[in-house]
Amino acid sequence: VIKPASLRLVEADETAAASGGPALRIDAGIAAWVSDVARLTQPDEIVWCDGSRAEWDQLTKLMISQGTLIRLNPEWRPNSFLARSDPADVARVEDRTFICSAEEVDAGQTNNWREPAEMKAEMLSLFEGSMRGRTMYVVPFSMGPVGGALSQVGVQLTDSPYVVISMALMTRIGTPVLNLITDDTEWVPALHSVGAPLVDAAGNVTEDVAWPHNPTKYISHFPDTREIWSFGSGYGGNALLGKKCFALRIASVMARDEGWMAEHMLLIKVTSPEQHVYHLAAAFPSACGKTNLAMLKPTIPGWKVETIGDDIAWMRPGPNGKLRAINPERGFFGVAPGTGIVTNQTAVDTMWGNTIFTNVALRDDGDVWWEGLTPNPPTHLIDWQGNDWTPDSKTPAAHPNARFTVTADQCPSIAPEWDDPAGVEIDAILFGGRRPSTVPLVAQAKSWSHGVFVGATMASETTAAATGAVGQLRHDPFAMLPFVGYNMADYFQHWLDMGETLGADAPPIFQVNWFRKNDEGKFMWPGFAENSRVVEWIIRRLEGEVAARQTPIGGLPLVHEFNIERTDVTEDDLQTLLGVDKQAWVAEADETERYFGSLGDDRMPAALYSELNKLRAGLAKL
Ligand code: PEP
Ligand code: MN
Ligand code: NA
Repeated sequence: VIKPASLRLVEADETAAASGGPALRIDAGIAAWVSDVARLTQPDEIVWCDGSRAEWDQLTKLMISQGTLIRLNPEWRPNSFLARSDPADVARVEDRTFICSAEEVDAGQTNNWREPAEMKAEMLSLFEGSMRGRTMYVVPFSMGPVGGALSQVGVQLTDSPYVVISMALMTRIGTPVLNLITDDTEWVPALHSVGAPLVDAAGNVTEDVAWPHNPTKYISHFPDTREIWSFGSGYGGNALLGKKCFALRIASVMARDEGWMAEHMLLIKVTSPEQHVYHLAAAFPSACGKTNLAMLKPTIPGWKVETIGDDIAWMRPGPNGKLRAINPERGFFGVAPGTGIVTNQTAVDTMWGNTIFTNVALRDDGDVWWEGLTPNPPTHLIDWQGNDWTPDSKTPAAHPNARFTVTADQCPSIAPEWDDPAGVEIDAILFGGRRPSTVPLVAQAKSWSHGVFVGATMASETTAAATGAVGQLRHDPFAMLPFVGYNMADYFQHWLDMGETLGADAPPIFQVNWFRKNDEGKFMWPGFAENSRVVEWIIRRLEGEVAARQTPIGGLPLVHEFNIERTDVTEDDLQTLLGVDKQAWVAEADETERYFGSLGDDRMPAALYSELNKLRAGLAKL
């Protein structure tokens, strides 16, 4: 390891020895990169993270002293912390997210693009000296079980200790990962700085703040060289680079090149009353209930759902030709508001301790609260911005995109095979979004290519998970609009190609929508735990136990075969939820044509236009 001049380099074996960990071997390529970045960013010191408990304790103590973390009352929430971000750094910044492929056309119509050398030149000047006065942490991480055949490794460099401890919960970090990397290991370099140096070029010292960030933000991806450069934000999806940046944007490119799939999907294991086991993968946009469905407690007798993942699935054909999936993550970075004892008791139980909360409210007893955690708010709180709050306050106590970060193994409903390196076999794929009209509660796609059409035409109302307006319907194909690391039309083609590879073993695809509203603007379907009824129908379809009414939009449940016992859903509402509104679908088809056109006609797969034509022809006959 080359020691950058005037830096106190904490040697990796020194750190490992201090924690009693195994001896380290640092790959020369990593050492050289670390040293280059240190020369550029000029941190005071470099710490190689080993992922030990001692390291966690040291970092959390450090951040408490810096004001970044507040230790929660250990009586209620042991080893748990609250972080309050800067109000200008609370969500993913899609307008500052770039796919820097060599050719603009390879980033496609749905991504921001910059020429890679130009982007690097601009970012190099931002990174220059950006870690002055700070520590640079080296975080080796594995997406997927360490050493697993479907897993991938990366190394994140960051000047944010909050990012280090979050990565420690969300990925497998530290010594075992570093030891895996040898000369011929492919690893993704992921460079991150909050962009708030404490010392300027002239040597003037600035005082630190609790949540450093920079008004200029860049979340840049270089798919051709499989690199990530993130500058200016300390928030989740912008800064925990294993998650959206690697496991979706960069991995989607790897997956296209290598014949697998990196998807924005939850994974569940479902056991039927007959003790038959099924695995479902389901794509929904951010903040549309993936975590709730992943931790579903069925209301219908005899059914059991266990959690495998709540956000990302990596899938590839297994030795028997069937699609297998792993959850590449180690934890949950869930939206807190709306997660509560009524909607998701399992998630609440998961966060009993060892949890980082970001932008939630603080109770007077040193525990946390957010909208929806309990039906009634406490009489007094400190809100996410550090101000007094009472139920009369005009603003929410927690930011709408407030988060909890916790490891998956604390989840009471976690499936034993959740971290099996071989993954689980996928029996069905679900696509859903927030659609107040048109899209039925559930429909089975007619074929794989019709399923790809359904995925490609997904739309959803926007949420607080990204900056920008909330509640606006936007196209969000495969729930991957912000996460596909290449041309969207090529991504559709890749899905079609995967269907060819899988052939008769391709899992059936279903479209779902929990968010249908009536004329009064009220949700028509109770959602949450009652979604188990939709899961039941899907599995009965897989078993051939229920029929489907064939329509131009797919196979719909027969009303009398759909279980609404002990719900207050009326027969009338069910008719609507399982109906085809011809006029609305004709309008939908027109919008689809416009949208497909906007994606660049030359690359759009003909198979999708042919599905559109079939839909129109079918509707015309209704
Ligand atoms: C994020 O917003 O930072 C994030 C990780 O994910 P999502 O938006 O999908 O919840
Ligand atoms: Mn997500
Ligand atoms: Na988000």
